[in-house]
Amino acid sequence: MKITFSEKQNSTSDTLVIALSDSLKFGKQAKEINEKTGDALQKAIKTRGFKGDKNEIIAVLSPNGVKYQQIILLGLGKEKTLSELLAMSAGGSIYAGLNSVKAVNASILVENVKDEIEIAANIAYGLVLRSYRFGKYKTKEKKESLPTLKTANLVVAAKSKAEALFNKLQLIADGVFLTRDVVTEPPNLLYPESYAKRIKEELSPLGVKVTILGEKQLEKLGMGALLGVGQGSIRESQVVVMEYDGDNDSEGKPLAFVGKGVTFDTGGISIKPATGMEDMKYDMGGSAAVVGLVKALAGRKAKANVVGIVGLVENMPGHNAQRPSDVVTTMSGQTVEVLNTDAEGRLVLADILTYIQKKHEPELIVDLATLTGAITIALGEEYAGLFSNNDKLSEKLAKAGEKTGEKLWRFPMAEEYDKMLDSPIADMQNISNGRGAGSITAAQFLKRFIENDTPWAHLDIAGVAWAKKDKDACPKGATAFGVRLLEKFVADNYEK
Ligand code: BES
Ligand code: ZN
Ligand code: ZN
Repeated sequence: MKITFSEKQNSTSDTLVIALSDSLKFGKQAKEINEKTGDALQKAIKTRGFKGDKNEIIAVLSPNGVKYQQIILLGLGKEKTLSELLAMSAGGSIYAGLNSVKAVNASILVENVKDEIEIAANIAYGLVLRSYRFGKYKTKEKKESLPTLKTANLVVAAKSKAEALFNKLQLIADGVFLTRDVVTEPPNLLYPESYAKRIKEELSPLGVKVTILGEKQLEKLGMGALLGVGQGSIRESQVVVMEYDGDNDSEGKPLAFVGKGVTFDTGGISIKPATGMEDMKYDMGGSAAVVGLVKALAGRKAKANVVGIVGLVENMPGHNAQRPSDVVTTMSGQTVEVLNTDAEGRLVLADILTYIQKKHEPELIVDLATLTGAITIALGEEYAGLFSNNDKLSEKLAKAGEKTGEKLWRFPMAEEYDKMLDSPIADMQNISNGRGAGSITAAQFLKRFIENDTPWAHLDIAGVAWAKKDKDACPKGATAFGVRLLEKFVADNYEK
């Protein structure tokens, strides 16, 4: 789909969309069209009781007096609460709506709404985000099942400004799409080495320094926890570091983003049940969000210094797999009794958290991980869990979450939960003995690897990394949760 912007309606469009807030006020161009059609639009509004509610849609088919095959009225909701996020969602619904009525070339009229530039650009952004498809492995797709929409032209008075803003949003969408792509790849093709290579290919051209560490180097560094997870797999474990220095003036410490990249989680010897195990291809969703975030920031030349790190491993059973009750030594020097080989994400994160602090002394750390099934029980597919040692950082993240619709809900952390991880023979064990609070004890485990009270937040995205149903600006499947959130977090708080 191609997105364009113009001040006047495009003569080649078959479908016109008129976006209206609940004020239902027509702008100049909408008025003209209404007159030409013999008041068809106003009549439709009356007879259908159209109120301009959020995502409300009515269609006028074959209107007289104009060349359009159909005109669609789209509600944007309350004029007062109109936001970039609502516009993005509306764009997503328009994309789905236009395809369902088999539109090919559409014009979308945005006039008489406040913040016209932002609204038009974000409607276009929503169209793009919803248009994501992963068709790579389909060899006999029928034309009827493909989306019909080829072009969408945003008609808006401040055309150039809206277009410039959209161009920036498109670069963020490129990051989102990369994340969705790698999450959707099957695990026989996307495994630690192939994934690391892909990261390098995608990010190096954007001026990101990409360093790949293989098992020999990881052994030298003492990453016994991460290597223990990967030792049952025929695939070599990898750690990938991505450095993006966009703030030339600053000698400042970088912002660190850390991602769990288990390319497939069978559970290991503590093997998972067969039903639903296929979901565990998205157990690298945290790492993919970090990769997409770096792509978005580097792509739009963000003025910030960022370092991303991902731990890539495959968790398999096998003759060399680690056993429940093994003791491993982490890079931090702390030892862990591995009581359950399926609680592997925290083991991977422990070592890369230590690495990033020792080598890069970051200003703050945000990690993303599909860490616990328990978070899905608590929050479902709507919010991700937020765990942190720092109130200010939590507030900034939560705010970025509200703005982007990638929402976060903070959980408590406390010494009592920490104690549940004490082991009789090592410094800690990787699961608690007690029942309950599974997402919190996982976060407490990670906290044991944060040094000197560095501001740190952990996002448990197990429930939100994959959508079972279509959402406005995201077709079902990989959501890329975290990319838009953290892009906004960086833009709002750390760029001049
Ligand atoms: N990758 C899973 C968590 C997960 C579950 C992600 C569902 C996405 C959807 C993680 O490695 C895991 O297996 N966690 C265990 C921990 C338990 C053994 C303490 C879990 O949540 O059951
Ligand atoms: Zn697991
Ligand atoms: Zn896992």
